[in-house]
Amino acid sequence: MSSLGIAHWMADTQARIEAALSLFLPASGSIPARLHDAMRYATLGGGKRIRPLLVCAAGELTGATPERLDRIACAVELIHAYSLVHDDLPCMDNDVLRRGRPTCHVEFDEATALLVGDSLQTLAFELLAGEPVAEPLRQIEMIALLARASGSRGMAGGQAIDLAAVGTMLTQPELELMHALKTGALIRAAILLGALAGQPLGVDERGNLDRFAKRAGLMFQVVDDILDCTASTATLGKTAGKDDAAAKPTYVRLLGLEAARDYAEELRADSLAALAIFGGRATRLTELADFICHRQF
Ligand code: IPE
Ligand code: IPE
Ligand code: MG
Ligand code: MG
Ligand code: MG
Repeated sequence: MSSLGIAHWMADTQARIEAALSLFLPASGSIPARLHDAMRYATLGGGKRIRPLLVCAAGELTGATPERLDRIACAVELIHAYSLVHDDLPCMDNDVLRRGRPTCHVEFDEATALLVGDSLQTLAFELLAGEPVAEPLRQIEMIALLARASGSRGMAGGQAIDLAAVGTMLTQPELELMHALKTGALIRAAILLGALAGQPLGVDERGNLDRFAKRAGLMFQVVDDILDCTASTATLGKTAGKDDAAAKPTYVRLLGLEAARDYAEELRADSLAALAIFGGRATRLTELADFICHRQF
């Protein structure tokens, strides 16, 4: 593991990912220019880059090379950026602010935003399949893993449950499934993909990393629910209070604010316990789990 402090390491990694994304995205002004400019608008210059950070931290655990990790990290971030563009559309959450700027369909138009999502998604798979990032069979496993995490049994499926559940009260197991899919699946994939780019893990290690990944993914969305009703629009860079206004089922609505906070802490403790098997090799992942739980935006 590098010896940088977490804040420095995060800033370094975020800058490297920004540069890599800029290179992987079609050049500004290249035909079709409006679509390509909108893809760059939706992806570059914002966001916490949590999923790329998790890819890189998990890759450090298994000794993967930075070049491989950057490509994988960008693929995951492109799926995430696509999911945000579609999540903000009028037919979904109908949001006008994202990462402190007008949402993609506001800055451009709805049809362009739809195509931005389509194109970022396929670009992600072009990246993940386009160069060797692991042994061939392992790489196929990685492509399938990202596809499943993104589709109807992953992120898109969770989004479908989210939309269908507006105005209703889900039970805790139902809410957990929705969150595990809409947000947890891609975060879990980021962690597993980073690890898969390095030396193989033992069966126990893989099981524990997966337990960490599932808990961290769920924790991420529980904290997103909390922040929606506790942080300001200026801090979040997206409209605060939207979940309540749109009658979304969230952990805060189900449990109340204090119990939702307690639940996030419980998930953090559980996720960290799963990392014990790795000792000091999991320091970065530990630090990121703390960041995910205690972040202010
Ligand atoms: C927001 O994700 C959407 C969810 C899945 C909860 P992030 O909070 O990671 O958004 P950015 O990438 O930092 O903007
Ligand atoms: C979004 O969940 C999950 C995605 C798959 C994008 P939210 O709808 O709560 O995300 P925000 O709060 O708009 O970022
Ligand atoms: Mg949503
Ligand atoms: Mg939303
Ligand atoms: Mg939210």
